[in-house]
Amino acid sequence: MQKSKNPFPVVSYLGPEYFCDRKEETKTMIEALTAGRSICLYSIRRLGKTGLIQHVLGKLARKRRYIAVYIDIYDTLDEKDFVNRICSAVLAMLEKKNDNYLKSLSRFFGKFRPKISLDPVTGQPSFELDIRTEQEVRLSLDSLVAIISEQKKNVIIALDEFQQINHYQRKTLSATLRKYIQNVQNLHFIFSGSQRQMLVEMFTSPKQALFRTTQMMPLDKINEKEYYEYIRFHFRQGLRNIPDSIIDEILSWTRIHTYYTQYLCHRLYEKTSKSVREEDLENIKNQIIKENEPMFQNYRRLLSPQQWKLLRAIGQERKVQEPTSKSFIQKYELGSHSTVRLSLKYLEEHELIYAEYENDEIKPNYYVYDLLLAKWIEDLRK
Ligand SMILES: Nc1ncnc2c1ncn2[C@@H]1O[C@H](COP(=O)(O)OP(=O)(O)OP(=O)(O)O)[C@@H](O)[C@H]1O
Ligand SMILES: [Mg+2]
Repeated sequence: MQKSKNPFPVVSYLGPEYFCDRKEETKTMIEALTAGRSICLYSIRRLGKTGLIQHVLGKLARKRRYIAVYIDIYDTLDEKDFVNRICSAVLAMLEKKNDNYLKSLSRFFGKFRPKISLDPVTGQPSFELDIRTEQEVRLSLDSLVAIISEQKKNVIIALDEFQQINHYQRKTLSATLRKYIQNVQNLHFIFSGSQRQMLVEMFTSPKQALFRTTQMMPLDKINEKEYYEYIRFHFRQGLRNIPDSIIDEILSWTRIHTYYTQYLCHRLYEKTSKSVREEDLENIKNQIIKENEPMFQNYRRLLSPQQWKLLRAIGQERKVQEPTSKSFIQKYELGSHSTVRLSLKYLEEHELIYAEYENDEIKPNYYVYDLLLAKWIEDLRK
């Protein structure tokens, strides 16, 4: 007999049935996109941006007037990779819709010597252009956009991990995208990523090409009550009784962060049948931290003693508003003010801590980025 499906996805989007809440965010995004506004969606890592994008694109794709395309550009290294990725994804969607894939290819891309192959796993056509110059990058994108503007439908393209374009050597892509956003009536974008500062700068600084081209959308945690109901519903659906106090404890332990909540529930669901007991939860929590311990020990080895001391101090306080203040430095014996500033910068750049601005405060609060690392550091004190 087939094992029943675990209702708490931890890798990818499994469809609306396994998607918790995000009703307001979905509505805001669909309203913006259908009114013709592009969006910039950002949050710290693993809070649910990709899931939300898939959810929204799924809803749009069900409408007759929309073609929805999802592209993750995390592993693209330059503009050429970007062009190949976006052309393959868009043309594959158009092919599904109206069967003119090959015709469009030769008509628009003949001069870039296109090579077509089929992905052996997904069966999707993938396609590679031979692009050599900056001008060819622009011309090939112009060709793609010409195909898009011929469509009778609106095309929504989600570019996930968008900050990646800042690592390309040439810096002209933003200006090209700006031109399309402004001039192509039936093309709108969702730009998304987790590097808040970088994305906010790209879309809100007057010096940047993409200035004011999108509706900015910071993503927050899932509503606690909705998450509570969702957890209870799925445990019950799987014929498991889960006491309210245990759901409270799950959400308190994960601080309602989506990925850790999903992961904890995923493991707990798998481990229990009939009734969930407190000791089951305790065991799973300890086990998860233990499984990750070698990675945390490794961080400790790779960081300088000052960096490690600062990370540990922030973890032990849970949240710190002024890590360079005299009192904090003295309490944890962190050395000079300038060393702490340098360590802070290093830890933030390496995503070991993150800064969050709460309720219009001018100074951010600093947190340990990875919740499991934060828990492990808290335990070190005991
Ligand atoms: N609303 C939701 N309900 C249930 N599960 C969700 C929801 N949103 C996201 N998830 C799940 O949580 C995990 C993390 O979400 P996701 O990958 O969307 O985060 P992300 O913000 O895109 O992360 P990253 O910044 O690393 O790209 C995934 O396994 C996803 O399936
Ligand atoms: Mg993502």
